[in-house]
Amino acid sequence: MAEHAKPRGTSDLTPEEAFAWQGVEELLRATFHAYHFREIRTPVFEHTEVFERGVGDTTDIVQKEMYTFTDRGGRSMTLRPEGTAGVARAFVEHKWYGGPLPLKLYYMGPIFRYEKPQAGRYRQHQQYGVEALGSVDPRLDAEVIQLADRFLRAAGVQSLRLELNSVGCPACRATHRDLLLAHLTPVREELCADCQGRLEKNPLRVLDCKIDRDHPVVLQSPTITDHLCDDCAAHFAGVKAGLDALDVPYTVNKVLVRGLDYYTRTAFEFMEDSIGAMSTILGGGRYDGLVRLLGGPETAGIGFAGGMERLMLARQANGVAEDGADTVDAYVIGLGEGGRMAALKVARELRDAGVATEVDYTGRSLKAQLKTADRLQARAAVLIGDDEVAAGVASVRELVEKQQAAVPLRQVAGHVARLVASVRERG
Ligand code: HAM
Repeated sequence: MAEHAKPRGTSDLTPEEAFAWQGVEELLRATFHAYHFREIRTPVFEHTEVFERGVGDTTDIVQKEMYTFTDRGGRSMTLRPEGTAGVARAFVEHKWYGGPLPLKLYYMGPIFRYEKPQAGRYRQHQQYGVEALGSVDPRLDAEVIQLADRFLRAAGVQSLRLELNSVGCPACRATHRDLLLAHLTPVREELCADCQGRLEKNPLRVLDCKIDRDHPVVLQSPTITDHLCDDCAAHFAGVKAGLDALDVPYTVNKVLVRGLDYYTRTAFEFMEDSIGAMSTILGGGRYDGLVRLLGGPETAGIGFAGGMERLMLARQANGVAEDGADTVDAYVIGLGEGGRMAALKVARELRDAGVATEVDYTGRSLKAQLKTADRLQARAAVLIGDDEVAAGVASVRELVEKQQAAVPLRQVAGHVARLVASVRERG
């Protein structure tokens, strides 16, 4: 390993990759705006308690995956391993429960999990997500899921599968828990050490354990979906009716439990099989008890988050071409002492006119500089030598059709701006 290699499971986005991400982020923001979700930015780290309580201390995330550290004041802090708990913490802290509800928020940002890195699974990844707080209406679940479906399709992911389930509420879970315990206790010794502990605390987590979930007895466990209370069953029916009304296709997956403890009722995942083992590109659900857990009043919530890296992999697998590149419009070449200073001023005027402009600082030959302008795919090169300065003009060379004109210095910015606009129009 190189002495200063990046940490395992992290990545450097190149300017080309970052440009492709920007396009997707613009689409995300436009979609969120259309559904009136507004942006929230919470800290990248929180008091460890927020995740221990919110995500749940029997989950893989809290038990094995958090980046937790003691700060210089002796407090335990954790880099956020997911986005929902921080949003719910902010909701309680700012008493937003007193305002108009549901409060609909979205976020984008880095997430940290100490997982075993592989294609599509990283120690730092980027999530985009939404949270709608303050309504139990199953139509809201349908709307949130439809938003995700619409965005993913618009982003070019066509071979999507939506898996849907209801994981019930604390009332129906109590009945199910007893059934599950009776089912799993005979094979207790065959389960991993963590799951032996989970059996007492939260047997539902065993179904989601990366080690034990494929155990034949675990696979045949009684499902919560078959033991929903009347209210949860009615809610689940409402979500399905909403999705039907919105023409969002789904399949019910009774063993979908999701890896976080806060979920109640609706749970869903969008899968995209062409990206390999890490095929879940977006997941979410309802968390009607989370705000209460974090010290707020009883407040319902529903949301989802998707992984940006997996989405970009899925776009590639679906043959989506990343359009455009972060190119410059104009390349300004100053020759001679006076020309070089004049170039700086012309560049400022071009930028003020909205023309993306690069200035040459290499001082190489004119031919070499024109080559650079071509390589950067500039639309125009602006040449200013000492003779041009004396005559008060610049030579503007259109680099697509290779036409050149002498333009008075004060008119260069307007001239090039028009040129760039006309080339853009021609596509
Ligand atoms: P999650 O399923 O743990 O849910 O993560 C959401 C998405 O983030 C996953 O579907 C996946 O695309 C991506 N992801 C997760 N871990 C990794 C990783 N190690 N590397 C790359 N991508 C990853 C949550 O985090 C919930 N907070 C979602 C939610 C919001 N539920 C309700 N509201």
